[in-house]
Amino acid sequence: MRYEPDHPAALFNLFWEGSKLNRRTVRAFAERLEAHDRLPHDPAELVYPQVTALAPATDPLATLSLLRRSERRFGPAPLSTEKLAALFSAFARRPGGRLLPSAGGRYPIEVFALLLAAEAPWQGSIVYYDGAKHGLSRVGSCPDEAIWRELCNLPEGADRPAAVLVFVGFPSRITERYGERGGRFLLLEAGHYAQSLGLRLAFEGLAGYELGGLYDDPVRDLLGLGGTDAIVTLGYAVGHPATP
Ligand SMILES: Cc1cc2nc3c(=O)[nH]c(=O)nc-3n(C[C@H](O)[C@H](O)[C@H](O)COP(=O)(O)O)c2cc1C
Repeated sequence: MRYEPDHPAALFNLFWEGSKLNRRTVRAFAERLEAHDRLPHDPAELVYPQVTALAPATDPLATLSLLRRSERRFGPAPLSTEKLAALFSAFARRPGGRLLPSAGGRYPIEVFALLLAAEAPWQGSIVYYDGAKHGLSRVGSCPDEAIWRELCNLPEGADRPAAVLVFVGFPSRITERYGERGGRFLLLEAGHYAQSLGLRLAFEGLAGYELGGLYDDPVRDLLGLGGTDAIVTLGYAVGHPATP
């Protein structure tokens, strides 16, 4: 993305460019994480002397929320079409609205997935989820394991997920309306998608965790989105848990 001062979100574009991960920038990124892990952490910024306790929530939503967690160990079983339907239904567009909020109804996020282990006919496919039709379109083939591992920043020792979902943003849909602030909204909306998926995984008894370190441009190209203004906001590795 080039810096174009007259663009409605020129600074968001600049920020995005500066925060991209690729083969060149990933080393400094990893070094920063390691250095940060060595720092003493004191998260108690807000400590008020008086806290009035509230009754804990015990309803089904609270119970489901408690089950949500990042689970990085996966079993080898492929995802069935039924499970795929359940997972993607987190992002469906239903008559009368969608399941997710979006600033100005602009919906700048789209969902793609690398189906690394899925039942026929999806095995090895890269798909786009069409929320209006609640259906999948095949847009390509997953590359060799060494390549998807590198592009998803998944080290060799990490379990192979059955699928990597990718939340892709189309900034112009929202920055044309909101300017720089639209960039902020786009990222917030990607978070809604991730949280919805996290709850859906918990409900389905599936495992998963967010992948914040995808290589931006190569993943965008892999999804067949080279030459568009698409940005790769976040990945989500999912699969059957190693121990059900
Ligand atoms: C934006 C974002 C990016 C993340 N990226 C990664 C990642 O690249 N790798 C990973 O193992 N976990 C990643 N996580 C998961 C966090 O480590 C995890 O949510 C956190 O440790 C809290 O654990 P919990 O999800 O089990 O409650 C990410 C989470 C978020 C919200």
